[in-house]
Amino acid sequence: MRRKIVAGNWKMNGSKGLSEKLVGYVQAEAGSLDNGVEVVIIPPAIYIRDVLDQADGAISVGVQNVGQWQSGAYTGEISSEMAKDSGCKYVLVGHSERRQIFGETDELVAEKVALIVASGLAAIVCVGETLEERESGLAESVVASQVRLGLSAVSGEWKSIVVAYEPVWAIGTGKTATAEDAQAMHASIRSVLKGMGAPAEEISLLYGGSVKADNAAALFSEPDIDGGLIGGASLVAEEFISICRYFPASS
Ligand code: PGA
Repeated sequence: MRRKIVAGNWKMNGSKGLSEKLVGYVQAEAGSLDNGVEVVIIPPAIYIRDVLDQADGAISVGVQNVGQWQSGAYTGEISSEMAKDSGCKYVLVGHSERRQIFGETDELVAEKVALIVASGLAAIVCVGETLEERESGLAESVVASQVRLGLSAVSGEWKSIVVAYEPVWAIGTGKTATAEDAQAMHASIRSVLKGMGAPAEEISLLYGGSVKADNAAALFSEPDIDGGLIGGASLVAEEFISICRYFPASS
């Protein structure tokens, strides 16, 4: 059965104080979730230890980025091995902000994914089209190509792969894909994965892009949406935990 995951990406937000307050609250509430959702927090790397201390095993922790090298003279970078060593379970890779602001390509994403899975961590690989691509009718082909190229180095380690579909135009904008459009893209991603020889039915596909407590229920009730990658709303403890609660208990 596919894992249901709600992951909060803090981006370059938060503080030691937020780690204490928000994570303390979320971990206490996460213990009472009865819908099988795995709650993940992905803080700035410098707060990973603070979040892990507060998480007390009830929440998984991830890192927002790793370098494409194992170790060496790469000032400012951290490696997958270090993330693993520090207690992380997940690594976000290919987020649209990394692609757009830092020029990360699908080839770089593939290199990082290879290192992430080799280190024993799970990669949350982000894909998504721009507004222009959607309006030109290219959304499915752009996303299919990101999936094929970004995961091209994966052979047997599919258990370590989660894909997050995040339409670029929906990130931080308050606009979200309709549940039907998101479902259609998730079904398309699943068929691309199948075409790659992956056990597609077992791979969790998350939706991201302005997920809030008031739209989570509709998104999460779609058959191919296995959870969410949450930005802004993950910085508000009650909102984030409400999103985790919206998963139907029976699925
Ligand atoms: P958002 O961000 O929820 O603030 O739109 C999502 C993301 O970038 O992962």
